[in-house]
Amino acid sequence: MGQFGFFRNYLRKMSQTIFGVSSKAPKPQNGSFSIKKRNLAIFASGTGSNAQKIIEHFKDHPSIRVSLIVCNKPGAGVIQIAADFDVPVLMIEKKDFEQGNMYVKELSKYEIDYIILAGFLWKMPEAFLNAFPRHMINIHPSLLPKYGGKGMYGSRVHEAVIAAGEKESGITIHYVNGQYDEGEHLFQATCVVDASDTPDTLATKVHALEHLHFARVIEDVIEGRL
Ligand code: GRF
Repeated sequence: MGQFGFFRNYLRKMSQTIFGVSSKAPKPQNGSFSIKKRNLAIFASGTGSNAQKIIEHFKDHPSIRVSLIVCNKPGAGVIQIAADFDVPVLMIEKKDFEQGNMYVKELSKYEIDYIILAGFLWKMPEAFLNAFPRHMINIHPSLLPKYGGKGMYGSRVHEAVIAAGEKESGITIHYVNGQYDEGEHLFQATCVVDASDTPDTLATKVHALEHLHFARVIEDVIEGRL
């Protein structure tokens, strides 16, 4: 122990005797306290390519992590992606989702701070809107307000863009409110629609934009840069 160790112990014992306390507060490791991470739940019911990009982006992030995948479609690709990355999956039923707050309570077990919609088609009910004000973010594969709203998803969006002869399309990342695709915009990025584009080739261009920007925009919002 040496004389300094002995002296330190002696002082500690003296202070406990004098003040009658011994602190059980956790000591910082290596001189630093750990930060509580912000937990994301990704709601996705499709292939899950955006979910995968987001999981990868935050894998070693110091203060944000993907803690849960929420899915309403058995067999959806995103379930395998969650398994590959060891992220738990919560399967949900429409009736319980739309009525009451059973799933809001379920999310609180994971201490979820933000909900990310990445290919989730059900409208968010009152219970979620109240529990996560300005803490729900969606991505839509068009330049909203064009080509959004109920029934505008997947290839239907790109078919409509091409049928209208648009020269550009893109993505919109926005807060979620009580209406489909109508929340406040956070970010848009565009791509050219060529005369030769089909709904499939346009979908590929739009997906590339989603993969490039979505995770970073989420990070910017959570960290107060957006
Ligand atoms: C994306 O195009 C997104 O804009 C829309 O749903 C699609 C999900 O694709 N909301 P993926 O399942 O992430 O590949």
